[in-house]
Amino acid sequence: MIKKLLRCIREYKRDSILTPILVTLEVVMEVIIPLLMANLIDYGITAGNMSYILKMGTVLAIFAMLSLFFGAMAGSTAAKASAGFAKNLRHDMYYNVQNFSFSNIDKFSTASIVTRLTTDVTNVQNAYQMIIRMAVRSPIMFIFSMAMSFSVNPTLSLIFLGAVPVLLLGLGFIIKLSFPVFKRVFKRYDRLNSVVQENLRGIRVVKSYVREEHEKKKFNAISGEIYKDFSFAEKLLALNMPLMQFCVYACMLLVSWIGAQLIVGSDMTTGQLMSVITYAMQILMSLMMLSMVFVMITMSRASAERIVEILDEESDIHDVEHPVMQVPNGSVQFKDVCFSYAKDMNKLCLSDINLEIAAGETVGIIGGTGSSKSSLVQLIPRLYDVTQGAVLVGGIDVREYDIETLRNEVAMVLQKNVLFSGTIKENLRWGDENASDEELVRVCKLACADEFIQGFPDGYDTYIEQGGTNVSGGQKQRLCIARALLKKPKILILDDSTSAVDTKTDAMIRKAFAEEIPNTTKFIIAQRISSVENADKIIVMDGGRINAVGTHEELLKNNPIYKEVYFSQIKGGDSDDAR
Ligand SMILES: Nc1ncnc2c1ncn2[C@@H]1O[C@H](COP(=O)(O)OP(=O)(O)OP(=O)(O)O)[C@@H](O)[C@H]1O
Ligand SMILES: [Mg+2]
Repeated sequence: MIKKLLRCIREYKRDSILTPILVTLEVVMEVIIPLLMANLIDYGITAGNMSYILKMGTVLAIFAMLSLFFGAMAGSTAAKASAGFAKNLRHDMYYNVQNFSFSNIDKFSTASIVTRLTTDVTNVQNAYQMIIRMAVRSPIMFIFSMAMSFSVNPTLSLIFLGAVPVLLLGLGFIIKLSFPVFKRVFKRYDRLNSVVQENLRGIRVVKSYVREEHEKKKFNAISGEIYKDFSFAEKLLALNMPLMQFCVYACMLLVSWIGAQLIVGSDMTTGQLMSVITYAMQILMSLMMLSMVFVMITMSRASAERIVEILDEESDIHDVEHPVMQVPNGSVQFKDVCFSYAKDMNKLCLSDINLEIAAGETVGIIGGTGSSKSSLVQLIPRLYDVTQGAVLVGGIDVREYDIETLRNEVAMVLQKNVLFSGTIKENLRWGDENASDEELVRVCKLACADEFIQGFPDGYDTYIEQGGTNVSGGQKQRLCIARALLKKPKILILDDSTSAVDTKTDAMIRKAFAEEIPNTTKFIIAQRISSVENADKIIVMDGGRINAVGTHEELLKNNPIYKEVYFSQIKGGDSDDAR
C-alpha cells in the first residue's frame, strides 16, 4: 500500500528528501544553542568578561539565524512536497476513475469517490507533511538533546529517562482508544456526503414531496454522529497536553531541586543547569511531537487505504493487443448472449439472446419496465461486456475493436442522459469537436431541435446550466439526439430518447432519420407502439428474454404481449391512426 502511494511523489522527490535534511540541520542548531548559552552564562556573565559575552553573543545570534533559516526552508519544501504529493494522488485517482467501466462505477458510490478525492487526500497530505518534518525532527531532537544533556550532567539526565516511560504509556493508551473512532469517522463522512449529494441532486423531488423535514432529520442524525465521534476522539487527544505538562513540570521541579543542591555543592554551574532545563524542554517536546505524528499516521491510515482502493481498481474493459480500428458496417449480431451485472450466471439479466440485424435496418424494442431493454443495447457499444456468448458489430466481436473506434461508430443516447454546463454548441460538439456550424444546424434539424434553439435569444450560444436544468425534458432529449447524430455513427441507439417528446415531433424525427440517414442502423427503445410500428423489426422483450421478433403486422397477429400493449394504448387514445 505504502509503495503505491509513494509512487505518486514523482517530481516532488527532491523536496521530500530535502525537507528531512533541512530539518536535521535546524535541530542541530537548536541543540547547540543551549550549550552556547551555558558557556555565555558561566564564562561571560558570571565571570564578568565583556569581550567574551560579545563574541559568544554574536556566535549565538548567527546560530539562531541559521536555525531560523533552515526551519523556514524546511517549512517551504515540506509544504511543496506534501501539496505536490496530494496533487499527484488526486491526478492519478481521477485519471483512473475516468478509465472506470460502467461496472466499476457501479461498485463505488459517487459520494464515496468524492470523499476519497477530497477529505482522504487532505488527510494523507497532512500526514505526509508531518512525517517528513516531525517524524524526522522528533527522534533526532530526542537523541541529540539526550546526548547533550548527558554530556552536561548525567545524573540530572536520568530524571528525563524516568519520565519517558510514563509519557509513552499515557500516549499509547490515548492512541489506542482514539484510532478506532477515527476509522469510523471516515465511513461516516461517506454517508454524510452521500446524504448531502442525494438531497441536492434530488432537491426538486424533495420539495415536491415536502420531505424537507425528513431530509433535515437524516442530515442531523449523521452530522450528530460525526460530532460525537470527533469530540470523543479529540477529547482523548486533548489529554495529551495535561499529561505532557504534568511530566514537564515534574521534571523541572526535580531538575531544579537536584540542580540547586549540585550548584550549592559546586558540582555544577548555573549555566549548566540552564542548559539542562532547556534540553529537558526539548526532549519532552520531541516526545509530544512524536505522539502527534503517531496520531496523524493512525488517522490517515484509514484514508490511505481508501485512496489505494481507487488507485488499484482496474477497469474490466480493456483494449485487446491488436485492436480492429475500423468498423466495416452497421450490422449487429447477438450470439447466445447471457449477461449479468454481477457477472454471476445465477443472476442473469439477459438470457439466450440471439439476434441478427442487417446494416441500415431500423429496429424497435418494446417491453415492460425492467425487461432488460437498456441492458440489451448497452452491450453493443460495449458499455458492459457480455457474461457469455458474443456481440458482433460489422461481423466482428465488439471485444476485438479499439474501444474509441467502436464507440465513435455506435452512438447511444442513454436513457438517463445529461447535458453539461456550457453553450448548446459546446454540448453538441461532444459528438464531433470539429463540426462546422452548418453541420450543427443540420443535425439539429434532423432531431427537430433547430426550431426551438432558434427561438432562444442567444440561439446556439445559449448557456446550458449544469445538468441541463434550463431546458425542458423534451428539448434536452432532442439536444442529446442531435449530439449523437453529429458523430455520423454507423449504429444509432435511442434508449427511450423521445419519451418526453410529443407524438407529432417524435414522428417527424423518425421520418427525418429514414430519409436522411438511411444507412445507419437504428435501434429505438420506446414505450409507445407508434414510435416503433414502422420499424423493419420489432423485438418484444420480456423478463430478460426475447419474446418475439417481427414486424408490426406480424406481432399484432401472433404476439399476445404486443397485442396487449397496442390495444391498451389505443384505448388510452394515444394514437389515432390505429384503427
Ligand atoms: N447498473 C446496474 N447494476 C445492477 N443491476 C442493474 C443495473 N441496471 C439495471 N439493472 C437491473 O437489470 C434489470 C433490467 O434493467 P434495464 O434497465 O435493462 O430495464 P429496462 O427494460 O431498460 O427498463 P426501463 O423500461 O424502465 O428502462 C432490472 O431488474 C434492473 O434492476
Ligand atoms: Mg431502460
